[in-house]
Amino acid sequence: MNLESILFTQGFGSRRQCRATIAEGRVEIDGAICDEPNAEFSTDALTFYVDGTPWAYHERAYLLLNKPAGYECSREPQHHLSVFSLLPAPFTARGVQCVGRLDQDTTGLLLLSDDGQFVHALTAPRRKVPKTYVATTRHPLDDTQLAALRDGVLLHGEAQPVVAVDARARSANVLELTVLEGKYHQVKRMVAAAGNRVEALHRERIGGLTLPETLVEGKWQWLNATDLASLQGR
Ligand code: URA
Repeated sequence: MNLESILFTQGFGSRRQCRATIAEGRVEIDGAICDEPNAEFSTDALTFYVDGTPWAYHERAYLLLNKPAGYECSREPQHHLSVFSLLPAPFTARGVQCVGRLDQDTTGLLLLSDDGQFVHALTAPRRKVPKTYVATTRHPLDDTQLAALRDGVLLHGEAQPVVAVDARARSANVLELTVLEGKYHQVKRMVAAAGNRVEALHRERIGGLTLPETLVEGKWQWLNATDLASLQGR
């Protein structure tokens, strides 16, 4: 692939901007500046540098972010910062989107991608991908609440009760809840319907993928082949 196309596909602006960036001598590849937009390179395991910052070529972007509280899953946030402000700008330019949304005050595992099929496969209601949340509750949990969550609670505006595939107390005020849907404020509404209240919410797992303990809040990483397989295999 030529260098202009490499920069373009990775989100470094319009083709004109990519050509200018290259012609200005700002791109280094294989240890040397390359100012020729038509120069050809193999994209296999390719890392190039723009203004000294390394960039690993990925045909499609599959990312995992440890979302902090106070960030909205929107490019145009209403009241808080955007999760996209935690990512390098080229991701926004190449159309990376959130795989489902977390509330601004929810923390934890957020996937992002520019692969529409991948986003659909994980968010379409009929795919029923399990998502595990850890909720800190205002009141101590009891067996009646846990049973109600497992048996199904009726949420306002929903025709059918919504069931947690798993609901267990990790401690008096810490609930682990796994649901298959991604409805608006789903966990908070379910917990409220069961007679308690969510004070803090954290997403720990999607399918078979757990938020890595090593990933600091506010930081992102590429999903590797094992991560992608664990999402699909659950
Ligand atoms: N359920 C909620 O209530 N909020 C989230 O952010 C995710 C699931």
